[in-house]
Amino acid sequence: MAFALRVNGATHQVDVPADMPLLWVLRDILDIRGPKFGCGVGQCGACTVHVKGVPVRSCSLPVAAVVGEVTTIEGLSPDGTHPVQIAWAEVDVPQCGYCQAGQIMTAAALLTKTPKPTDADIDAAMTGNLCRCATYGRIREAIHRAAGLHGAAATASPAGRTARPSPAHE
Ligand code: FES
Ligand code: FES
Repeated sequence: MAFALRVNGATHQVDVPADMPLLWVLRDILDIRGPKFGCGVGQCGACTVHVKGVPVRSCSLPVAAVVGEVTTIEGLSPDGTHPVQIAWAEVDVPQCGYCQAGQIMTAAALLTKTPKPTDADIDAAMTGNLCRCATYGRIREAIHRAAGLHGAAATASPAGRTARPSPAHE
């Protein structure tokens, strides 16, 4: 069955079974490998992407049910400078890294909805994203840091942006 899928600002025509999970379409058909396969049953969060800005488990969402723009970690920012990505690098959150794309996508959605989250807000939002390396403390720290960067970027003039460059450029 043919579908027109909007992913990271581009439209893709895909011809796949209607019940194929979005994760399969992203990884195996479109070769977008940021979202990861963990449990395959909606329990770990490794496959988290946004659909219309809302975090969803792409392993459990049939492609036929996708309505609206899909954003993966590759589309979160053009150059890795989303406040969550900057904070993640500054706090050095990842260990093995496998869960981290999903963690970042859930965190980014949280900050869009709740720009200054409390620890309780963070724990509630992130509870479905599991990390076998137990980076939870650093994830929480990085989300608080990203909230600060987010606020600073929003109040800075275009000429005086306070968002810091990607660590790759430091
Ligand atoms: S792989 Fe989708 S929630 Fe685990
Ligand atoms: S960093 Fe290894 S599973 Fe999360």
